[in-house]
Amino acid sequence: MSFPTNSPAHPQTPAFVVDKPLLDDLRISFQSAMAAHWPNSILGYSFKTNALPWLVAYYRDHGAWAEVVSDTEYELAVALSFAPDRIVFNGPAKSRDLLRFALTCGSLVNLDSKREVTWAAEIARENPDREFRVGLRVNYDLARMVPGELISEDNVARFGFNLDNGEFDAAAAELTEAGVRIAGLHMHNNSKSKSLDVYRAAARVAAEIVAGRNLTPDWIDIGGGFFGGVNAEPSFDDYFRVIREELVKAVDPEETTLVVEPGGCLVAVPFEYHATVVDVKNVDDTRFVVIDGSRTDTDPLFRRTRPYEMTIESASTHTLPAQKLVGATLTEFDRVTTLHDEPELRVGDRLTFHKLGAYTLPFKGLFIDYLPNVYVRAADGGLTQVRRKWGVTQFLQNNLWSRGDGQLRGPDGYDDTVTPEPLTDPSAVIA
Ligand SMILES: Cc1ncc(COP(=O)(O)O)c(C=O)c1O
Repeated sequence: MSFPTNSPAHPQTPAFVVDKPLLDDLRISFQSAMAAHWPNSILGYSFKTNALPWLVAYYRDHGAWAEVVSDTEYELAVALSFAPDRIVFNGPAKSRDLLRFALTCGSLVNLDSKREVTWAAEIARENPDREFRVGLRVNYDLARMVPGELISEDNVARFGFNLDNGEFDAAAAELTEAGVRIAGLHMHNNSKSKSLDVYRAAARVAAEIVAGRNLTPDWIDIGGGFFGGVNAEPSFDDYFRVIREELVKAVDPEETTLVVEPGGCLVAVPFEYHATVVDVKNVDDTRFVVIDGSRTDTDPLFRRTRPYEMTIESASTHTLPAQKLVGATLTEFDRVTTLHDEPELRVGDRLTFHKLGAYTLPFKGLFIDYLPNVYVRAADGGLTQVRRKWGVTQFLQNNLWSRGDGQLRGPDGYDDTVTPEPLTDPSAVIA
């Protein structure tokens, strides 16, 4: 299937546009650094950062595994043709069925909750002749090792099994006792600065666990959270150098696979958001410029404080001290940004917001308007549309509503004689 608007001169706004050469550059630079420092490594692309199907398939085609953190993301990876043994399965709320499926089919599974430990032990006891391998997500005291880095308000990291209070060792003991091999450690932590110290700390703790508990891990998963961009500091090379320096103290790089789960560092920069001015108006001394886009796309959690990097296409030669860019949705909060000393915007002027590929598309809700168009721009400037704006058809899917005669109906083509199915068993979807 292709969309009728292939190769338009401009994207139909509002739209995200992926700069493919930039996407290539970042990927190649990440993969080169990874291969130089730890040839035996896996790039698990973090679906949650931006699961645009085109993007996910792009990473699959360039050797990446899928890094998924829920049953739904796992099913998405399978739907997008990742073999189960090229999926890293993380997250705190895996279902029993899908955990069993993933363990059986050779996914790289990192456990993150006690019920998962129980379920992994259970399947191992049922199948004493098979080897089951799991990783454990480690909850370690990054706040003490690198103060001020945790992003949580209470300065406590919530994921994984705590190392200091015995929960990590208790989980490991339960698994070992049941015959499950502790084959990996998962060290992901989000940090404020994304500094090398954070990765040094993660790798150091991993090395200490391996040495202190006599483990022979098949993998150490350092997680994601890297900083990235063209000429970024620290560089991808810096990260891998520091990680290697610490890990080699306890593991053999030939024997232990290094897993990384980058998202933002690879996809934030190559994504632009394009919008067009649809109205300009004055209220007292305030100039409002209404665009066809929305803060629900550029800042879906409504908490951005740093300024946008923007390009303004306007024929205007006159500048204004302040113009408030407001979005197309009907809430006072849809205020995108205030422009200072920029050309006086007019209806039809085009705006491009840069570096918006991480945690924008996935957090976009369905408030008033739905998911926007997405295009990919090639090196020659040609645009290919890879997602068509969601409309009413997509909004209505999986819904039932009154037909007016006491019966329920669904979208056209929906068979209302069939009782709605309970949630599908994921293993059935996969089979
Ligand atoms: C387990 C895990 N892996 C990878 C990532 C990707 O992080 P980022 O997009 O910052 O690289 C996250 C995000 O928080 C995560 O929770």
